[in-house]
Amino acid sequence: MCAAHRAAHRLGALAAAGFQAGQSVLITGATSSIGLLGVQIAKALGAGQVIATTGSSAKGTLLREAGADSVVVTGEQDLTQAVLEATDGNGVDIALDHVGGQTFAACLLATRADGAVVAIGRLDQAASTIGLDALSYRHLRICGVSFGFSRAAKLGAVLAAAGHGPLPAVAGRRVRAPIDTRESFKTAARVVTRLRSHQAHGKIILTAP
Ligand SMILES: NC(=O)c1ccc[n+]([C@@H]2O[C@H](COP(=O)([O-])OP(=O)(O)OC[C@H]3O[C@@H](n4cnc5c(N)ncnc54)[C@H](OP(=O)(O)O)[C@@H]3O)[C@@H](O)[C@H]2O)c1
Repeated sequence: MCAAHRAAHRLGALAAAGFQAGQSVLITGATSSIGLLGVQIAKALGAGQVIATTGSSAKGTLLREAGADSVVVTGEQDLTQAVLEATDGNGVDIALDHVGGQTFAACLLATRADGAVVAIGRLDQAASTIGLDALSYRHLRICGVSFGFSRAAKLGAVLAAAGHGPLPAVAGRRVRAPIDTRESFKTAARVVTRLRSHQAHGKIILTAP
């Protein structure tokens, strides 16, 4: 999937949540390929505040360079608490969740009243136990997106809308896929190990002879 295609995908997730410029956005699993584009697209579309999560403190710089206003290291900080502290106790307007499991449940508690939580990825788990009190008392909206399962008409609308915001940002290189390393195809096994151990800071490009 190219950067422009993924950028349109991120726009679809923000659109599903009813995103408007100036709103605050939480992005979990933000160092993932689509998470990093989510951070950049949210900022390019005028997000007032982007809070990004990672499990690796070493990736804080990567997230800040992508445009995150603050970074939550999930192994060291409580996600809900950290987001509430960063938003004057209110929570974010929109949470884009790429992790699933109990991170998804924490997103509900970190989202302000009338906000929206979008289920995008399941880097951790596809199952989650959520607190219905958080959902009900805060009048939250939950929605899911899956680009591969989008109906043609919906996909067309997202791609058409992408021409007004994300695609110019991709063309202007304000949105791009960060590159970790460029390697020879012969090193593919080592590259897979680097990816599986979460060491990569962005994409790894394999060049064929
Ligand atoms: N809805 C859709 O249309 C759509 C489209 C594309 C992908 N997805 C889904 O979105 C997710 C991200 O995909 P991707 O290809 O962009 O991922 P990726 O680039 O492979 O993401 C790797 C990073 O994810 C984080 N991670 C890995 N396992 C984790 C876990 N158990 N808990 C929390 N974080 C974890 C690690 O970052 P840290 O070291 O920073 O913690 C790791 O470096 C996947 O679940 C994928 O299936 C959904």
